[in-house]
Amino acid sequence: MKNKPAPTTQTKAAPSWRHYNFVTAGPVDDYLYSLLPKRNEVLAEMEDYATAHDVPIVGPAVARVLQQLALMIDARSVFELGSAIGYSTIWWAEAVGPNGRVIYTDGDSKNAERASGYFARAGVSGRITLHTGDALEVLSEQKQEFDIIFNDVDKEDYPRVLHLIAPRLRKGGLFITDNVLWSGRVAEKNPTDAKTRAILEFNRKLCDWKDFSTTILPIRDGLAVARKL
Ligand SMILES: C[S@@+](CC[C@H](N)C(=O)[O-])C[C@H]1O[C@@H](n2cnc3c(N)ncnc32)[C@H](O)[C@@H]1O
Repeated sequence: MKNKPAPTTQTKAAPSWRHYNFVTAGPVDDYLYSLLPKRNEVLAEMEDYATAHDVPIVGPAVARVLQQLALMIDARSVFELGSAIGYSTIWWAEAVGPNGRVIYTDGDSKNAERASGYFARAGVSGRITLHTGDALEVLSEQKQEFDIIFNDVDKEDYPRVLHLIAPRLRKGGLFITDNVLWSGRVAEKNPTDAKTRAILEFNRKLCDWKDFSTTILPIRDGLAVARKL
């Protein structure tokens, strides 16, 4: 290629949540992140906390996609499976507006405690319901249909999540899943790792599912966006 850019080297190690240089080439990834608008004080502090403590947040590049998708379909209700310290939850809460509702779920009560502090400081506590426990169980107990279901739980659980979503998502609603390219391990020939195999099973079933139209966006660690038909 003419004028091929010289490879650049990172001066500082990327935080673990970036999944740096696996799906998108490192310098391209740096370029994308350099274009992102500055985050508010609370989100910036959460990113720093996630970096320091290896919390696997989606980060600002994916969070912006999530928020834009919610705004595009005028979402008012979001169910989140796997919320950790509530970073992605805040982006959803901002998107649904003051009359919207986001359901936070996490198995770790310490995460929920930390998240609720951030929600208060971000001024979005009133839009968020917190559940501590198994996210799949909480979803199966819901009676309403959501505009968006966001899946970010343990990867071995991904195939089971597929059995729960259809009745809880409105027609035209979005089922969105993080980490579907799993640092590129989905392209290994015969992976033996249980998480990779679960993601492969999940991706195949979701992409073949006639009730959904699915696209996998190769951003960060791969984001599957499936619209219920
Ligand atoms: C990848 S992190 C979530 C990050 C969050 N979505 C964000 O971007 O800010 C996954 C979280 O899901 C929680 N988790 C995993 N499996 C779960 C399950 N079955 N039920 C509830 N929480 C679960 C873990 O405790 C962890 O905090």
